[in-house]
Amino acid sequence: MQTVKSITQLKDSLKELRSDGSKIGLVPTMGALHAGHLALIREGLSKCDHIVASIFVNPTQFGENEDLDAYPRQLEEDIAILLSEGVSLLWAPPVHEMYPASFGTTISVNRYSSDFCGIHRPGHFDGVATIVCKLFNQVEPDIAFFGEKDFQQLVVIRSMARDLNLSRPTADKILGVPTVREEDGLAMSSRNRYLSREDRNSASILPKAMRLAVEKIENRGCPSEALEELRNSLLHGGFTSVDYIALADSNSLERIDSSPVPPSRLLVAAHIGGTRLIDNMKVELKE
Ligand code: PAF
Repeated sequence: MQTVKSITQLKDSLKELRSDGSKIGLVPTMGALHAGHLALIREGLSKCDHIVASIFVNPTQFGENEDLDAYPRQLEEDIAILLSEGVSLLWAPPVHEMYPASFGTTISVNRYSSDFCGIHRPGHFDGVATIVCKLFNQVEPDIAFFGEKDFQQLVVIRSMARDLNLSRPTADKILGVPTVREEDGLAMSSRNRYLSREDRNSASILPKAMRLAVEKIENRGCPSEALEELRNSLLHGGFTSVDYIALADSNSLERIDSSPVPPSRLLVAAHIGGTRLIDNMKVELKE
């Protein structure tokens, strides 16, 4: 596996990888790799000849009081993981390669960024859309792979590709990979490592309480009651505050307040011991 840090090197290496008509998959990451990222790589390798992974802690998607400086960086460890997973090329640019002093363009995906994390992390999705668009233009993958854990991010990125008529990849080649969970159900995240042992134990209430809410809604229980019970479970179970708990249409991300519930997602963001956790689960009414 080659590691490249400049656009020129990237283009040269991609030319070589593509010379025999190979299909290229892109797995964009911010590093601190865990089993969730491995699932993206493995899904990628089942559909593409070569995987290009990127590691870039993108400053423009972090708010002023967020964890940009504290965000875990472990390039050597990540390289070893990518190597053992069969990744062909690592794109790990420094900040000035992605954002030279002259940089002055932002992509805003207004339609899908105005609720949920968009409210609580102003500017976050502009940063995500801009960097992902750059990664797409730099790598020009046939397919790109993203975790469903960041469900709103996935919807935003697909919408950007559709709205801007991107061709590599097209919106339908931006694939979501199901969330990978720890044994107790907590969704894998690079930020889980911020949790103290006590908070980590308490955090398992999140997927458990979400599962109960999903079951209640799927069995035609009242959605608003289910969401209220979920909020109470989190606040009594060690979470200090809740940014949002909502049921949203899986495609439009519009909030659903009453039955009947179309195919949707239960979306949650909540804080525990100074760490903000997000999660989501599919909701499908039982026949
Ligand atoms: O999901 C992430 O790790 C990041 O938001 C992404 C897509 C790599 C963009 O920086």
